[in-house]
Amino acid sequence: MEIVLISDGSLPMDSPVRKLPFFFSARLIDMSKVSPRAIGDAQIAVVELLKASDAGLAALKSSWGSIAEIPVICLVDKNNRREAIQAAALGKSEIMQRDTPFALLLRRIRSLTSTDAGSRLPEGTAKTTVKAYRSSNAFLESLCFSAAESSKIQVNLMSESASEVLTALSLDGLSSWMDAVQSHHSATYSHSLAVAGLAGTFAKSLGWSESDCREVIAGGLIHDVGKMRIPLSILDKAERLTDEERALIDRHPMFGREILKPRLEISIDIKKMAIQHHELLDGSGYPDGLKGNRISQKVRLITICDIFAALTETRAYKDAHSPRGAIATMRDMGPKLDQKMLLQFAQMVLENGLGEIKRATAFAKAGTAA
Ligand SMILES: [Fe+2]
Ligand SMILES: [Fe+2]
Repeated sequence: MEIVLISDGSLPMDSPVRKLPFFFSARLIDMSKVSPRAIGDAQIAVVELLKASDAGLAALKSSWGSIAEIPVICLVDKNNRREAIQAAALGKSEIMQRDTPFALLLRRIRSLTSTDAGSRLPEGTAKTTVKAYRSSNAFLESLCFSAAESSKIQVNLMSESASEVLTALSLDGLSSWMDAVQSHHSATYSHSLAVAGLAGTFAKSLGWSESDCREVIAGGLIHDVGKMRIPLSILDKAERLTDEERALIDRHPMFGREILKPRLEISIDIKKMAIQHHELLDGSGYPDGLKGNRISQKVRLITICDIFAALTETRAYKDAHSPRGAIATMRDMGPKLDQKMLLQFAQMVLENGLGEIKRATAFAKAGTAA
């Protein structure tokens, strides 16, 4: 699902539209450059009228036909008569106040484009899985809010989702969870949900306590929180990433550290899972090049689940590994991974029938990094 953001020049600093690229794959178009080609396959347009010049508005009005076919939301300031008149003059569009709570703007965009995360779940998905999927997705969205606004993380929602995921995994099984999560419209969200499911099932198979299982599920949900500082148009990009884009994505554990460090409501163990999941036992990982026993069991577990999830997802420029192929690749990583734990993981994958899962078609176009 793609969204176009239309503004006169760059988006003003105080526009809520600046946050949309973290929730949707979004492109910014200058008011004077709107054309059917520029709109492309976008499903919705959001027009920011703040600081729009008369010339910009005149250009937009003359090319209005190019966006008339898709829903358009115009953001205006209720105290600014000029903006309200301009929005009305543009013709068919939905007018929203700029200070509408951001969550309502998101909800409206979703309802106009039917990108509700639950709307694409496979038919017949078990109820417990649907419930856990919805609440963990809601948690990921709230996490994106917290990252965008440097506000508190909703720990209650996090614990609730982690418990529900654990129940769903116990009742419906891991493959039902993996089937459900791959229906998500964002490969990046789907990945975090997958890592959470793998982590919970793996921890349970290792005989870890219920509270540790819940903690690694929460860790799985949160592990790529740093990516919430990176626009989805890069994270979910269909084409091969440029070097700059790849370098930006590789900074996500650092961004995760920035986001989580001041968050006292998040446990140290969960913070470590987010900051250290790209560390490798031989010291060749990032961001800190940690080695051996400086990397905890929970982090090792998340790393294994993360790499496995990433390898079995299709990227823009490579097919998905089969689960067996992914495990073989991970065995080849030798001293970088906890090989004893990897053997146990391989066992868990087989026991859960994941050898049969097909993840290739759902993300035929996804291009994310682990
Ligand atoms: Fe990841
Ligand atoms: Fe990551």
